Amino acid sequence: MKPINTYELSGGRSALRWLYMLTLFLMTLTGFGQMPIFKRYYIADIPGMGWLGKFYVTHYIHYLGAIFLIGLIAYVIVDYVLSGRKEFRLTSSAYVRIALLGAIVITGIFRVLKNLPDVVFSPGFTLFIDISHLGFMMLYLLAALVFRIMKSGWVVRK
Ligand code: HEM
Repeated sequence: MKPINTYELSGGRSALRWLYMLTLFLMTLTGFGQMPIFKRYYIADIPGMGWLGKFYVTHYIHYLGAIFLIGLIAYVIVDYVLSGRKEFRLTSSAYVRIALLGAIVITGIFRVLKNLPDVVFSPGFTLFIDISHLGFMMLYLLAALVFRIMKSGWVVRK
């Protein structure tokens, strides 16, 4: 009997895909919320959008999203290592996305450290981390759009 591979369970995988896209969408929205552009450009005045202008609301959702995202990434890595890689291999576009996502997570963790009261970074390093978090996030979204147009997924069958 053929072993069950989670990559074949399209229902499960599409649920994962939706969860991942929803998480990235929320992270982008709440990340930009801290800049804080939604209040400045009156988007927070639209009924139902008020929460986007509240710093601590967007801040905590961004933190919760980060915890969820790291859990999701850990799940997908373990799933791929234990089962997926027997039949599937990562595409070049997957490596680009992994590098960019890794950079977003690492710079994000540094931003969290910077927010801790006892951690002090130099102004130059703080600026570097801030700009790179934003820059990698923009590059990721651009890359995701280009790969979608190119129809290049994360994995192909071996
Ligand atoms: C492990 C993942 C992540 C962590 C730990 C993290 C953490 C942070 C932190 C601490 C901030 C500063 C605002 C604050 O203090 O709340 C921030 C800002 C931001 N994050 Fe994230 N983040 C992560 C992932 C993401 C992702 C996946 C995106 C979007 C795809 C994103 C987009 C942004 C944006 C746009 C900002 C505002 C940039 C700026 O103010 O210059 N973050 N993030």
